[in-house]
Amino acid sequence: MKKNFTILAIDTSCDETSAAVTDDDHVLSNIVSSQVEFHQKYGGVVPNIARRMHQELIKPVINAALKKAGKTIDKIDALAITVGPGLAPTLEVGIAKTKELAKQWRLPVIAVNHMEAHLLSAFAKNSKGNGSFTKTKPKFPILGLLVSGGHTQLVLMKNFGKYQLLGETVDDAAGEAFDKVAKMLNLGYPGGPIISELAKNGKPKYELPIPMVDSKDLNFSFSGLKTACLYKLQKIPQKQKNRQFICDFSSSFEKTVAQALIIKLKKTIEIYQPKQIVLGGGVISNITIRREARKVASKFGLRVFVSYTPRLFTDNAAMVGVCAWYQAQRGDFVKNITTLDRQPNLNF
Ligand code: KG4
Ligand code: ZN
Repeated sequence: MKKNFTILAIDTSCDETSAAVTDDDHVLSNIVSSQVEFHQKYGGVVPNIARRMHQELIKPVINAALKKAGKTIDKIDALAITVGPGLAPTLEVGIAKTKELAKQWRLPVIAVNHMEAHLLSAFAKNSKGNGSFTKTKPKFPILGLLVSGGHTQLVLMKNFGKYQLLGETVDDAAGEAFDKVAKMLNLGYPGGPIISELAKNGKPKYELPIPMVDSKDLNFSFSGLKTACLYKLQKIPQKQKNRQFICDFSSSFEKTVAQALIIKLKKTIEIYQPKQIVLGGGVISNITIRREARKVASKFGLRVFVSYTPRLFTDNAAMVGVCAWYQAQRGDFVKNITTLDRQPNLNF
C-alpha cells in the first residue's frame, strides 16, 4: 500500500452534508454543512427535505473540502462513502455522487459503516499528525461506547475490522432522548447541545428513573426515561417552569443519561476486561458524560480515548476517510460499484 493514501470521503447519512480529504489517518480537511436551521421548525430531521438539501450542497461541499486540503481530484487515490446506517433517502445522495465521481475519475470506492467511522474517529490525527493515539499505541481489545442521535452501542474492538456488538439500545438512542426532552421543554433542535449548556447552570434536583439499572444484559433503553420526563413535566405548573427550573431539569436529565451509560460501561469492562476505551458519537460532546466515563474507566486503570477535536464527535466525513484508510489497508474495496447500494440498517 502506497504511503500517503489520499481519500475523498463523503457522508450524507442524516442532516449534515459532509466531505473530507484524508491522507492515511491524517485529516487534511473536513467540511460539514449543517442543515439544522431547515429542520429546526419541524423539531427533527425531515428525510425528504434533508435529501433535497444534500443534493444542493454536495457539490460545493466536496469542492470546499478539496480546496481546503489543497488538492485537486486527480490527486485523490480513492473515494469513501457512508452506505449505512442512516436515512435511506439521504444516503442515496452521497452514494449517487460517489458513483458519478468514481466513473468519471476511475477511482476505487470504499463503502463505510457510519458507526465504525464514529468508533474510529478516536484514531484520527490532524494534518500535523497529532491525535489521541500519537504517543500511545492501540492495545486490543478496545471497548467502544458509541452514543449518537440514532444509536447507543457498546462494541468490542478486537482489531481494526474485527468488531463484536455487545449491547445496544432496545428503543430510543440517548441522543434521541436528549432531542425529545428538549422538545418537551420547548428548547429547540437538536436538543443535546442546548440541554448540556443549560445543565451547566443547574443542579440535578429532580429524581428520574435510571433506565435498565437492574437488567443483566448490556443493552440500553431510553424511552421509559423520556416518558418519565413527560409525566414529571406535566405535573409541574407552567408558572414554575422558569429558567432555573429548566436548568435544574436539564441537569437532572443529563445526569440520569450519564448514569445509564456508565452503569453498562462498567458492567462491560468487568465482563470483557478491555485494555483501552474509546468514545464516539454526537452525545460524547457532552462533558458530563465524558467525565463520568473517564471516572469509571480510571477505577479499572483504563485510559479513555476520544477524537483530537470535538468536531469529530458529531457527524462528519473525516471519520469516514480515516475508517476507509483502515479498510483500504485490508483490501476492503467495493468490487462492483454499479451494485453499490445504501444499507439504512447496517450494523456491526
Ligand atoms: O453522531 P451524531 O452527530 O449523529 C448521528 O449519527 O445520530 O449525533 C447527533 C446527536 C443529537 O441527538 C444531538 O442532540 C446529540 O448528538 N448531541 C449531544 C450534544 N451534542 C450533540 N447530546 C448531549 N450533549 C451534547 N453536548
Ligand atoms: Zn452519526
